[in-house]
Amino acid sequence: MNEKPATEKGNMKGKQIVVGVSGGIAAYKAAELVRLLVREEAVVRVAMTANATRFIAPLTFAALSGNRVISRMFDEGTGAIDHVTWGQDADLIILAPATANVVAKVAHGIADDFLSTMTLAATARILVCPSMNTRMYENPATQENVSLLQRRGIVVMEPGAGELACRDEGPGRLPEPSEIVEEARWILSDQDLAGLQVLVTAGATHEPMDPVRYITNRSTGKMGYAIAQAARIRGASVKLVSGPTSLAVPRGVDLESVTTALEMRQAVLKHFAGSDIVVMAAAVSDYRPHSTEGQKIKKGPETLAVELDRNPDILAELGQSREEKHCVLVGFAAETDDLLANAEKKLKDKNLDMIVANDVSREDAGFAVDTNEVKILFRDGKVETPPLMKKQEVADLVLDRAKTLWEARPRHGK
Ligand code: PMT
Repeated sequence: MNEKPATEKGNMKGKQIVVGVSGGIAAYKAAELVRLLVREEAVVRVAMTANATRFIAPLTFAALSGNRVISRMFDEGTGAIDHVTWGQDADLIILAPATANVVAKVAHGIADDFLSTMTLAATARILVCPSMNTRMYENPATQENVSLLQRRGIVVMEPGAGELACRDEGPGRLPEPSEIVEEARWILSDQDLAGLQVLVTAGATHEPMDPVRYITNRSTGKMGYAIAQAARIRGASVKLVSGPTSLAVPRGVDLESVTTALEMRQAVLKHFAGSDIVVMAAAVSDYRPHSTEGQKIKKGPETLAVELDRNPDILAELGQSREEKHCVLVGFAAETDDLLANAEKKLKDKNLDMIVANDVSREDAGFAVDTNEVKILFRDGKVETPPLMKKQEVADLVLDRAKTLWEARPRHGK
């Protein structure tokens, strides 16, 4: 088998998206949002309120989207029924930034300009990204409007908190455009993992020698985070147990941070019983210093021996303990030699359903990079050999295969 997944599951290629921009200081961030959506190969159109055009020129959005921008109901160039067709042809409308005024208008069905009329007539899903002064956001009127939208199935993103343009501190900031894109992917995905609990481990563990030193490895967490993110976008409920990383937690993913292998074991065991699919992408340290000094170890003799104890093998413990095979158990194998033979041995020894082997001696695969070339080994002896792919694509492929195994399980009742 040598097959690339047909599509990335959260793919926005060809999706029709209308970005509705209203008049707030964050309107400039909508330009980046449009750029990111276009980069995802979505077909993007932009509608602006008249006030928004005072913050950023329609020409910017026209250039970025490659499509005409509508800011007035009766401008030259605005078709007679654009206010109806735009929201009905679209797969998704993203209101970003959505001012308090626009949130209120959408909540109460007010249609007094192109943007609000289009939204009222829309059949598309709607994602509202409020951005405003903290007091305006916290005002019960706005809060009730937000609840009203949510009760109607409109997705409302929580604004970020911090210092705002008006110097107030608190919630009101437009979420980062990349976060908005991630939310849009989730809304547009076919949610094929909905109802499943997915447990993912990611990153390296740190095994301390003293207060300032530890044993670790080169894992950045990118592979595991990509799996957690893909699973959430596809509708799963995701628990991510992660060693220390510098990565942002994917939206909607429940993170449990750990430092050592022993902490990771505890966290994984806590969540194992309720999980349907478990993917262990973490690079768990096989050894830890026998003792951790309370003070920094001082420079001394020419050589210093550190005694190490073996850490428990978490994955093997899961494999051995799952008598009833309640879940699909997926391991990773990081190898520098004999990739297939070593991975096959781990698959059997740890009683896994499948193992994803990667050659970590390569520069374009394994640790730290954004791509990976994996071989997927199954219990029945099948081996899948996809080409080099983005880690997001590997994540979707691994989840596709895990889902197939889940569905084929004799006992599954979902
Ligand atoms: O994080 P990145 O920078 O993106 O890098 C990705 C990666 C290279 C870390 C990832 O693709 C990967 O290969 N992860 C597994 C790394 C590893 O520890 O492999 P292993 O062959 O040593 O372990 C086999 C399996 O047993 C793994 O699923 C591992 O999580 C698990 N294990 C290992 C040791 C241990 N004490 N407990 C475990 O559960």
